[in-house]
Amino acid sequence: KRQKLAQYNTVSDAVELIRNAKNIIVLTGAGISTSLGIPDFRSDTGIYAKLAECGLNDPQEMFDIDVFRSDPSIFYSFARLILPPSSSSRFTPTHAFIRLLQDKGKLLTNYTQNIDGVESVAGIRGEKLVQCHGSFGGAGCVTCGYKCPGEVIFGDIRAGRIPKCPLCLENPPMTTTTKKGKKRTENEEEEEEEDVDPSLGVMKPDITFFGEPLPPTFSSRLLGSPTPSTSPPRTPDAECCDLLIAIGTSLKVSPVSEILGLLPPHVPAVYVGIEAVKHVEFDVQLLGVGSDVVVEEVCRRLNWSDELRAIVSR
Ligand code: OAD
Repeated sequence: KRQKLAQYNTVSDAVELIRNAKNIIVLTGAGISTSLGIPDFRSDTGIYAKLAECGLNDPQEMFDIDVFRSDPSIFYSFARLILPPSSSSRFTPTHAFIRLLQDKGKLLTNYTQNIDGVESVAGIRGEKLVQCHGSFGGAGCVTCGYKCPGEVIFGDIRAGRIPKCPLCLENPPMTTTTKKGKKRTENEEEEEEEDVDPSLGVMKPDITFFGEPLPPTFSSRLLGSPTPSTSPPRTPDAECCDLLIAIGTSLKVSPVSEILGLLPPHVPAVYVGIEAVKHVEFDVQLLGVGSDVVVEEVCRRLNWSDELRAIVSR
């Protein structure tokens, strides 16, 4: 388990760390988008509390790949709650701060767990971004693999309908028919029952569900690629990162929650959130007021306020 570095404790320490860092990993979660009206997952007002009210015993089932395969209607009855906002030109001061780190050449990588796509709206470049839990940017058929842009299935999602694959609708794939052994009298014939896969021909957004692997860039970028790739070799982030800033995440979902533990122990770590994180040792935690207020104050102390404002008002 990571040990706290004794020399860093205060807001000023966090500001100095940002001033001096050259390769910052920013690890983000749902808390950086709440000020846009997008709920987070685990707060009292978050998605999971809403799902519990709607009767789901374990609200995380909504994102469970086995549950999706056996009954996609569970995901699709709630998916509209997590769709990216329809006005796609908005982002928060926190997104602007990450963009500013990029503009200043300090952003190594933004590992985001968010599926709202707001990072790109703020101008964080694709090559600086790892969408650890995928996104609504694309969708694919779970049966034939047909791919389409994510927006194509938004209409169905908003209407609470299960989006279907156009190719599978045209050429229905073979269904499996099984004889179900049923208790019957001597004279009764055994009934044949169709046991149709409920997810047959269903489209799924490119979100990483529990039980699915993360996109391969997550570990190759962080730790290096196990197999030589065709692109020019890149130093793994874990080897060159000199500061980690985690913002707006409960760090409850692995493997993203393990990133800090995979960095060398001398790399300082700052947390920005509402409540203290107790299961991971950060050097400085900036809490209580929300990340937008924190980044504004940090930028004030760094003399970056004008630049932050310029990005926010773009
Ligand atoms: P959580 O809902 O678990 O955590 C969000 C954190 O942000 C909480 O600790 C909040 O207190 C904090 N927060 C809320 N508003 C904030 C604000 N304005 N400023 C700073 N912090 C704030 O969300 P994640 O950690 O992102 O998976 O959850 C991780 C994954 O769990 C998600 O990616 C999602 C979910 O299952 C998928 O979408 C597939």
